[in-house]
Amino acid sequence: MKQLITNIHQLVNVRSENKLLKGAALAHLPIIENAWLVIDQGLIQNFGTMSAISELATFFDQTIDAAGATVLPSWCDSHTHLVFAASRESEFVDKLKGMSYADIAAKGGGILNSARKLQACSEEELFQLALPRLQEWMLLGTGAMEIKSGYGLTVEAELKMLRVIKRLKTVSPIPIKASFLGAHTYPLEYRNNHEGYIQLIIQEMLPVIAKEGLADFIDVFCEDGFFTKEETIRICKAGAQLGLKAKIHANQLNLSGGVEAGIELNALSVDHLETMDAATISALAASNTIGTLLPTAAYFLRMGYQPARALIDAGAAIALASDFNPGSSPSGNMNTVVSMACIQMKMLPEEAINAATLNGAYAMELASELGSITKGKRANLIFTKPLSSLAYLPYAFGSNLIEKVMVSGKFL
Ligand code: NIG
Ligand code: FE
Repeated sequence: MKQLITNIHQLVNVRSENKLLKGAALAHLPIIENAWLVIDQGLIQNFGTMSAISELATFFDQTIDAAGATVLPSWCDSHTHLVFAASRESEFVDKLKGMSYADIAAKGGGILNSARKLQACSEEELFQLALPRLQEWMLLGTGAMEIKSGYGLTVEAELKMLRVIKRLKTVSPIPIKASFLGAHTYPLEYRNNHEGYIQLIIQEMLPVIAKEGLADFIDVFCEDGFFTKEETIRICKAGAQLGLKAKIHANQLNLSGGVEAGIELNALSVDHLETMDAATISALAASNTIGTLLPTAAYFLRMGYQPARALIDAGAAIALASDFNPGSSPSGNMNTVVSMACIQMKMLPEEAINAATLNGAYAMELASELGSITKGKRANLIFTKPLSSLAYLPYAFGSNLIEKVMVSGKFL
């Protein structure tokens, strides 16, 4: 099946070569004005300007008039917790009424609340709950997604979560990557026996995960009161022996050592980064590790935003992701993430779009097939409503500016 798309107002993020974007390179977003695009078997085959369309061969199975839409590569959401048993809006209301995070945790809230509910859910129920969520974010332009475990916290429940993600991979039209986050928090029964839980992760969970191919990456919540830098390194090294690269929850609430752990481990990404200082910023910028910023989590928790400008100015590779989860970011809307990155973190629209597409793809090791308009990549595309300029997209936050979404050459 060969498709021709005509009358594209702007074809965004067109690249002939693939490169992780660091520092100043993030501000360069290559665009073809007034473009056509050819898709063959769901893959981008060619593109050019409408003024030169007569040079194209004439046979196509389908011609689509984009009618002035701007066309972008789909969002690559490289950090989500899509699989969970129940929302947590009652904790949200408790917090509005003045309860602290510690009060809620003492009542068995937070991650442990999600774990208790997930443990009681069957694999089938979790799968059925996750599917419509995936659909919702796909319709808002997400064309690839990473999903973490971490609400299981027992051998059985962590494996159950990862098997749900594996099943999602088989039915999902968009690529999905799985991260094993058994080290999300210490279960109550291991509160005073950290070594016991680490042994459970390394001896009981990881071997089954490797045997059944249940994860692509390994993640640890490296944070004061959760996992230390040393514990993070130990767990990630055990994962690395089984071929799992690290993607770490780092420096969300404190200078936790998570960034340093990530650099030492040559992690694919360190994610969150609300709490950074000059030393961690320059160390990250000098490394090959991607800094994945999650502005909607900072927003929902009323925290200071990630220092995107300082990171970019220092030369770091930045990705943007939603952190979709029931506790700290109950939205997986990447359009909101991109807006918030511009409005609150002063990223330029070009920087935010690059960070949410190509660098997001890199943060999932999917850059060879997604993240830009490049020959041979998958035609996972966003068609916008008519835009006065590309900056209108992050500027008009809250408007749904997506006209339609294409996945592997098919409109959803
Ligand atoms: O990425 N920071 C740790 N984990 C999740 C949220 C945990 C929860 O409250 O469910 C996050 O924000
Ligand atoms: Fe997270």
